[in-house]
Amino acid sequence: MAPALALLLGYLFGSVPFGLLLTRAAGAGDLRAIGSGNIGATNVLRTGRKSLAAATLLLDVAKGFLAVTLAPRLGGDPEQMMRLAALGAFVGHCYPVWLAFRGGKGVATLLGIALAFGWTYLLVFALVWLGMVALFRYSSLGGLSAALALPVAAFWRGEVVLMFLFAAVALLVTWKHRSNIGRLVRGEEPKVGGSKNG
Ligand code: G3P
Repeated sequence: MAPALALLLGYLFGSVPFGLLLTRAAGAGDLRAIGSGNIGATNVLRTGRKSLAAATLLLDVAKGFLAVTLAPRLGGDPEQMMRLAALGAFVGHCYPVWLAFRGGKGVATLLGIALAFGWTYLLVFALVWLGMVALFRYSSLGGLSAALALPVAAFWRGEVVLMFLFAAVALLVTWKHRSNIGRLVRGEEPKVGGSKNG
């Protein structure tokens, strides 16, 4: 029972589409009709509303972090509960029932999940993201690289089950970024700080 509850708790937290809700509440239109159509902070930034983008980033990080850290309170094995809530939160963000399963790409939620598993994962994720974005100025490339770095970090720390979880999540991040990957290959991906509608 407890494992199913952890998955459900994670899913419910993850499925709250903060980017969409905030932009709509601020009268900035439907995020799905802007830029890449994604509901994440990068696309909120394309509305020109930096504070909204920052709030989206913060809330998407917070929901991943909270889902994982609260899950052990439901009982069961704490580490297993954390991993299941992490999976639930990630899937919830990417496939929210409230949006007919058309959600985001999971990068900010994964950042919150990484933090919940320890500062090492947060540092690895943040440094890889920042390094790649500083070098190439593609948010998607930063997110993809940071997601792929997490299973490597878990392997390095000898956390094998977490390594498999992060590897599965990284595969899903890659799948969710397939249109970005296509644009990167064609040289059409908008850069951070580029045109609003990129
Ligand atoms: O975190 C999302 C980012 O990796 C890509 O966003 O809007 O450029 O598809 P977007």
